[in-house]
Amino acid sequence: MRDVIVAANWKMNTTPADAGELARTIASRTAEPGVVRVICPPYVSLAAVRDAVVGEGIAVGAQNIHHELAGAYTGEVSAPMLAGLATWVILGHSERRRDAAESDALIGRKLGRAVEAGLRPILCVGEQLVERESGRAQDVVASQLAGALAGHDADTLLAAGIVIAYEPVWAIGTGRTASGADAAAMADAIRATLRSSGWGPRADAVPVLYGGSCTSATIGEFLAEPGIDGALVGGASLKPDEMAGMVARAALTAAARRAAS
Ligand code: 13P
Repeated sequence: MRDVIVAANWKMNTTPADAGELARTIASRTAEPGVVRVICPPYVSLAAVRDAVVGEGIAVGAQNIHHELAGAYTGEVSAPMLAGLATWVILGHSERRRDAAESDALIGRKLGRAVEAGLRPILCVGEQLVERESGRAQDVVASQLAGALAGHDADTLLAAGIVIAYEPVWAIGTGRTASGADAAAMADAIRATLRSSGWGPRADAVPVLYGGSCTSATIGEFLAEPGIDGALVGGASLKPDEMAGMVARAALTAAARRAAS
């Protein structure tokens, strides 16, 4: 049975002075059984969030890592530096592909660093609007996956708990979401890509999240799809009411899956 996950990507929001309070409020409003909750604040707020959620069953994640372990990389943070601060990491977010020109190969190197450091990776993939409109969405995502996963061993990634987040770029921060059916079709395509790249039936064990303008009002459409295992949430994850609504809905899916298994 795959995890049901609600992961909060706070992006470049919050300060160490206010992140702890926000995390504490979210923790108290989302204490639902069966849902894996992750908060990914900016690096400088990791310690505040870690301290705020002690004993709450919420995991803390970083939003990025560098592909090297240490050295002359001004302004960067490596995977081993996150020891004691984070247990998850978001990799290959489209905002980093866009702003830091991250390639699939580079993201693949980061994936290796995450796994070595014992961080649970959320690998983000997703097409641009023109790619969807020209019918190339699944090819684009398949190529992103193949590029990032090349050279990685399926068993190692599975043991690391890899999660794939499908985030269509045109849905991020736009108020526009994919349809549940389109997201489910992409989740199928993602697992088909894994299956045919040597993963075989192990592909079915990989959680796939939807991301892009997800809110408490829209998450149900995605969680109604058996192939979708939760959401990676940006804007709405900064609002305790929204987090409460999303995790409550995710808890229904988690309970239904438990009952069916
Ligand atoms: P929004 O939920 O703000 O659209 O952001 C989604 C996202 O990029 C999460 O990583």
